[in-house]
Amino acid sequence: MYKILIMGPQGAGKGTQAELLAQTLGIPAISMGALLREEVASGSPAGQRAQAILESGKLVSDDLALGVILSRLARPDAAKGWILDGFPRVDSQADLFLKSIQPTHVILLELTDAQSLERLAGRLQCSVCQQSFHELYLPPKTPGLCDNCGGALIKRSDDNPMAINKRLEIYHHDTEPLLARYEQMGILHRVDGSGTVVEVAAAVRKLF
Ligand code: AP5
Ligand code: MG
Repeated sequence: MYKILIMGPQGAGKGTQAELLAQTLGIPAISMGALLREEVASGSPAGQRAQAILESGKLVSDDLALGVILSRLARPDAAKGWILDGFPRVDSQADLFLKSIQPTHVILLELTDAQSLERLAGRLQCSVCQQSFHELYLPPKTPGLCDNCGGALIKRSDDNPMAINKRLEIYHHDTEPLLARYEQMGILHRVDGSGTVVEVAAAVRKLF
C-alpha cells in the first residue's frame, strides 16, 4: 500500500504531480492546502480560523491541520493508499503524524526560489475543483475556465509577493529540515522539478 508524501517549495508542482500520480496509481491525491481552502469556502468554524492565516502565508495551528488531515485520511477512498501534499510541514506535525503512520515514499520536487516565483506569478486555479493551470506553461483549453469541471479560474489570494516570500521562508526554515528524517529512513527520492510537467511526471513515475 502506497503512503506517499510530496514535498517541495511553493510552486514546485506538488499539487500538479500529485494529481497525475494519483491517476496512475489509482489512489487519491490529498492536498493540505486544498482541504483548508475548502474549509474557508464552506465558512466552517475551522475555515473561519484559517482564512486570515492562509492569506498571510503563515501556517495554521498544528491541531487544526492535524484534525483536518486525519479526518480526510479516514475516508473510505484512502483505505488503499494515498498521496499527501503539504503535510507534515514542521517538526511538531511530523512527530505527531509519524507516531502512527509510516510513509512508504517521500518525493521531493526541487526548484529554486526564482523558479517558484515565476511559477506562482502565472498560476490560475479553479475556484470549484482547485485544479491548477498556468498562463504560459499549462494554459486551459478555454481561457478563464477549468478543463476539468468548467469552473472559473482565479488567482489564489496567497499568490501575492508578500505571502509567497513568507511561505518560502517557512519552507526553508521549518519544512526543509524534515528531509533529514526521511533520508535516514531511506524513503526520500529527489526529483528535479524544473522540467516541463510531462518531464517531471515521467521522473516521478519511474520511482514506482
Ligand atoms: P498549499 O496549498 O500547499 O501551498 P504551497 O505549499 O504554498 O504550495 P503551492 O500549492 O503554492 O505549490 P505546488 O507545489 O502545489 O504547485 P502547483 O502544482 O500548483 O498551502 C497553502 C497554505 O495552507 C499554506 O501557506 C498554509 O497557510 C496552509 N497549510 C498547508 N499545509 C499546512 C500544514 N501542514 N500546516 C499548517 N498550515 C498549512 O504548481 C504551481 C504552478 O506552476 C501552477 O500554475 C502549475 O500549473 C505550474 N506548474 C507545475 N508544474 C510545472 C512544470 N513542471 N513546468 C511549468 N509549470 C508548472
Ligand atoms: Mg499546491
